[in-house]
Amino acid sequence: MKYAHIVGWGHYLPERILTNDGMASIVDTSNEWIYTRTGIKERRIANQQETTAMMAFEAAARALAVANVHPMQVDMIIVATSTPAHMFPSTASQVQDYLGASRASAFDLSAACTGFVYALSMAANTIQAGAAQNVVVIGAETMSRVLDWQDRGTCILFGDGAGAVVLKGLSIPGGILASTLGSDGSGGDLLSLPVAYHSPLPFAAIEPSLNGHNRGTLSMNGRQVFRFATRVIVDSVQEVVAKAGLTMADVALIVPHQANVRIIETAAKRLKVPEEVFYLNVDRAGNTSAASIPIALCEAVEAGRLKPDDNVIFVGFGGGLTWGASLVKWDVTPPEVYIAERNWRDPRYVWARVKSRMRRFGRRLEGWLSGSPTPEARLRKTDKR
Ligand code: ACO
Repeated sequence: MKYAHIVGWGHYLPERILTNDGMASIVDTSNEWIYTRTGIKERRIANQQETTAMMAFEAAARALAVANVHPMQVDMIIVATSTPAHMFPSTASQVQDYLGASRASAFDLSAACTGFVYALSMAANTIQAGAAQNVVVIGAETMSRVLDWQDRGTCILFGDGAGAVVLKGLSIPGGILASTLGSDGSGGDLLSLPVAYHSPLPFAAIEPSLNGHNRGTLSMNGRQVFRFATRVIVDSVQEVVAKAGLTMADVALIVPHQANVRIIETAAKRLKVPEEVFYLNVDRAGNTSAASIPIALCEAVEAGRLKPDDNVIFVGFGGGLTWGASLVKWDVTPPEVYIAERNWRDPRYVWARVKSRMRRFGRRLEGWLSGSPTPEARLRKTDKR
């Protein structure tokens, strides 16, 4: 029997901070309105270099350092994201290349803000089935690139960042004890992010209706999402606790999706637990969608909020509509390791980049020798058309 244990964790937040006062210079709002309605004081905004894949790589490299797992020992990489730079290649494949994790399979998972909980559950099932030993689960988002910066009802809520955990299969009981996942597609229009395809449609008449939504930007019915969130947090937490054969008294910490302090206050009341049981960092990071739970988890560990043998719940909700929770026995003590802040300069990742470039060069050479056009020549041909 294999158990999936969390043995490493890491996160990355962009350096640039956008405060509520800064937000008030972009849209008609105020620090007072944002803080009292959401609990958010500031959020991080990625620069051009801080792509979803780059932040996911940084978080994963830190998690692997804590776990003391070499990238070559990784069997699978799952990235939960709603903001990939490409539909394919997946963000996970890019991370696999940056890490030099050449034995790993890699794929992205789309479940909006619940993505991390979904990915964690998939990873745990794969380990428990004996199909993988070490899995890297990442939540990474550049929400700032998909916001309508004229819509004050949404752009004030979100931020950018990434968080990751390493799951390891061990025969010691513990780790992910239970999970529950759910979806209600009938509420898809309450929170949506239509894909921005750039190719012009050949027939204007078949342009699909977007119900007034802009392609490539997020839209939300805030009040309905608020009601949905408070209901599913309570239901998911109660369900996962029962599934694990525990009671709320056995739960030391809940790391929820960081959307809004008022949602958590309401959920805490309904669950009859003190608000302090919930770990919150939404004031500093805003809502980073699929990245919010692993980022908050890392901060909770750094703040000493988790002790060995504590039971911790991750609970998420978001677009789809989707929701889910995982109950985890926290059975590791943070190791005393040096975590390189500049992972790109770590020799193993420099070597991974060199190997990746050599492989690309090899493919070009092979193509050139066999007379097939280079990617540039193919682009020139498309441009001419
Ligand atoms: N600054 C100032 N005024 C604003 C702002 C703003 N940023 N945004 C809206 N308002 C105004 C509105 O125009 C409206 O004015 P009106 O009454 O004159 O028409 C008034 O404030 C009330 O607007 P509501 O949208 O009804 O405000 P509400 O109290 O519902 O708060 C909020 C909005 C904060 C978005 C809230 O609904 C909420 O938190 N919902 C949950 C959202 C959420 O958690 N989403 C993410 C979940 S899933 C995921 O993470 C993707």
